Amino acid sequence: MRHLSVPSEQTQVWLQRCKANGWLGETGVVEVDGRHRGLPLHDDAPSEQDPFWEGFPHVDLEPKRRGPMHWTERLPPALQSLPESTWPGSYEMQGDVLIFKLDEASKPHAEAIAAAMLAQIPNVRIVCADDGVKGDFRVRDLQPLLSRDGDTTTRTRVREHDQVVDVDPGEVYYSARLAHQRKKTFDEVQAFQKKLGRSLVVADPYAGVGPAFVLMLKQKGLLRGYLAGDLNPKAAELLEHNIARWTGKNSTAFSPASIVCKDARTWKDEPTLCGQADVVLVNLPHDSFEHLPDLFPLFVPHGEGMLRGWAIIERTSLESRVEQLETLVRAAGGTPKNAHVLEIKDFSSTRCFVMFQTLITWD
Ligand SMILES: C[S@@+](CC[C@H](N)C(=O)[O-])C[C@H]1O[C@@H](n2cnc3c(N)ncnc32)[C@H](O)[C@@H]1O
Repeated sequence: MRHLSVPSEQTQVWLQRCKANGWLGETGVVEVDGRHRGLPLHDDAPSEQDPFWEGFPHVDLEPKRRGPMHWTERLPPALQSLPESTWPGSYEMQGDVLIFKLDEASKPHAEAIAAAMLAQIPNVRIVCADDGVKGDFRVRDLQPLLSRDGDTTTRTRVREHDQVVDVDPGEVYYSARLAHQRKKTFDEVQAFQKKLGRSLVVADPYAGVGPAFVLMLKQKGLLRGYLAGDLNPKAAELLEHNIARWTGKNSTAFSPASIVCKDARTWKDEPTLCGQADVVLVNLPHDSFEHLPDLFPLFVPHGEGMLRGWAIIERTSLESRVEQLETLVRAAGGTPKNAHVLEIKDFSSTRCFVMFQTLITWD
């Protein structure tokens, strides 16, 4: 196919000139050599001798055809005729792990789907079917379908707010979608630190792999110490690993610096874990409100503290939740201030996902 060969740095100029005259072909730009690019020309573009080309040569090159735009175009021809609704409409990536839900229609073609996805998306290492969330640890039941290199581990690495976070979607809960909530938590904690005029101790007893600490540990002077934990041993292991990376050479600069694998409701019985936090995060959405009475003892028992958490609640109970939060704080001996419960998103037809927050004065 006829191509116009131009110096690489003039590629854009000539692409525009050819396009403006309707002479640019549909195929892609081809590399002629290290310093020249070939622009595909339509049959009706003028010949090489035309002054329009300013002496740049026409060369005959193999056209660069576009690859499939969607993974479904990579399915075997025999499956291409099946209805569009057979195929999963979405998938999620965590690092190099691709996760999608199989339904009755797509189940018989699981392997073909995985192969097509692997062929289409170069940075995928393993494709897994997601059989839903299981157990108290809210971990997905992942079935590895196909791996590029035979490695079937689901441990991988993501980036959040410019930091590396080691995750394992088959073993530990982590949701990239909630990164904006974590940024808000960071903003709130920062504002609270400015208000108190000193660095803080933050407790996150349902920390998962620790994403709430990504921004907080990076910000100099924000934290004096941290108490982080999770009941899932795999989470606690990744939490320790991630916090060690984020604190780097600064690891001894924090006190307390505790990472534990424990039921959050038992922290109150450990002298090293209770009575120390300025901020307590509560991220166990199905049970957050029920666990609160056991978590108040984590606060420093004087001065002001901040409680921030997330919950899944019946929408009909939304209005009464601020009062419930204030009642729980008072029952624990604190005085609530600026308590609020905000709907973040729908969870089901009757339930919603909310963020709750209150300042608490302890005397
Ligand atoms: C919704 S996830 C939140 C994880 C993390 N905060 C995040 O944002 O990615 C809840 C976490 O609480 C842990 N968990 C469940 N029950 C617990 C308990 N009784 N005590 C401590 N952790 C618990 C689960 O293993 C899970 O990692």
